[in-house]
Amino acid sequence: MQAARTLRGTFSLRHKHSNERKRHNRPKKVVPTLQNVELTISHIGHRGDGCADYEGRTIFVPFTAPGDHIRADVTGDRGALIEMLEPSKDRRQAPCPHYRVCGGCSLQHLTQDYYQSWQLKQFHETLKKHSVSAEIIQPLFTVEENTRRRATLSALKRRGEITLGYLAPKSHDIVDVTACLVLDPALEALLPALRILMGDLLANGDKAKISMTKVENGVDINIEGFERELTAEERGKVADWAQGANVCRVTSDGEILAQHRAPYLTIAKENIEIPPGAFLQATQMSQEKLQTLVSEALADTKGPVADLYAGCGTFTLALAHDRPIHAFEGDGHCVKALINTAHHAKGLKPVEVSKRDLADRPLMPAELKKFAGVILDPPRNGAAPQIQQITESSVPLIVYASCNPTTFARDAAQLIEASYTLKTLTPVDQFLYSAHLECVGVFERA
Ligand SMILES: C[S@@+](CC[C@H](N)C(=O)[O-])C[C@H]1O[C@@H](n2cnc3c(N)ncnc32)[C@H](O)[C@@H]1O
Repeated sequence: MQAARTLRGTFSLRHKHSNERKRHNRPKKVVPTLQNVELTISHIGHRGDGCADYEGRTIFVPFTAPGDHIRADVTGDRGALIEMLEPSKDRRQAPCPHYRVCGGCSLQHLTQDYYQSWQLKQFHETLKKHSVSAEIIQPLFTVEENTRRRATLSALKRRGEITLGYLAPKSHDIVDVTACLVLDPALEALLPALRILMGDLLANGDKAKISMTKVENGVDINIEGFERELTAEERGKVADWAQGANVCRVTSDGEILAQHRAPYLTIAKENIEIPPGAFLQATQMSQEKLQTLVSEALADTKGPVADLYAGCGTFTLALAHDRPIHAFEGDGHCVKALINTAHHAKGLKPVEVSKRDLADRPLMPAELKKFAGVILDPPRNGAAPQIQQITESSVPLIVYASCNPTTFARDAAQLIEASYTLKTLTPVDQFLYSAHLECVGVFERA
């Protein structure tokens, strides 16, 4: 295999063009297709697809439940549900009109009980793979429907018509959406107006990505993907549109197109002017739950705390009334917003905010020494370089909030090996009806 790869590499240098031609002409791999196969779903896999055994191999069939007896068309290891022969007892009528067409909420067809027990089972299995004990897992916290305060939609104009919505399952096709079960009503109500705006701004064939965030004083919108500068007349239209639609600000790739008032959020008791498209927890409910978990974990500690991957200060602002805190964050706009808020806030203990890339430049053991506790809330890929430094430090308490159980379990295993004990672990479901799960783990040095 190695020899063949080397040979092809040498060949491609001398005959680049003919090799490219060959690659294009190479016949596509034929994926076996079977039609009308009868399957029984045995369980749901970690990505949320139903799994069935067919002649000794696993077929993944989206939108199914364990116990479903179905007929499916099968291509490779993927099945498409074409007929329900006998439904599972764990199934319910999916409430959203866009279910199955839209790529979001792919687990809406499960009963609430089954969905939640599946979330927990997945969580247990992920921890087990990394030999992390799941005995201390607390009850699952789940947000309510219609509470999502930020969402990203796609828009496409074709033959004068706008399609506005989410992406279809495993596809870049846009599904036109008129209602959304999980979205905050203020954002859902904006969809018709947004359709009109995109109709005015996009040329036929153009696409754009629109992030909407519900803030205290309206809605903040950031649009990405305009192929050209908007004219003064178009900017005027955007401003009029925003005024009529209770939209505080419209930005294009972060640049202000129209602003009637600065959009702000209240985090803990402080108002923060949020940068366009900044990270925020998906719902106010889950934000408060995460803040409570973090505050409770640190309640008995004395002394300063470090908030790593601090974003706009979800945890910094929740804790700064009680203790000195040093926030570290990689995004300069979030850093600026947090500094500004902390500077104007009254009654806070000292707050320091530093822009720092924690993957390239994690806090070292000598820097960590002064903290009574460290909060970590990294992106999906986890915090491997920072965890490595923490294992060599003497920090007594780590509170790790994570949006990815797999990288959490990997990092937790490393902390446990370095003689930290996992004291409590709370799963939080803030992306309803999806396979995503957040969690907060509290580690103490033995
Ligand atoms: C999951 S968010 C958490 C934000 C905040 N703790 C909250 O609850 O709102 C992760 C944050 O890490 C930041 N980030 C991502 N990679 C980073 C890095 N290499 N160094 C520092 N910050 C980073 C992102 O900008 C984002 O604000």
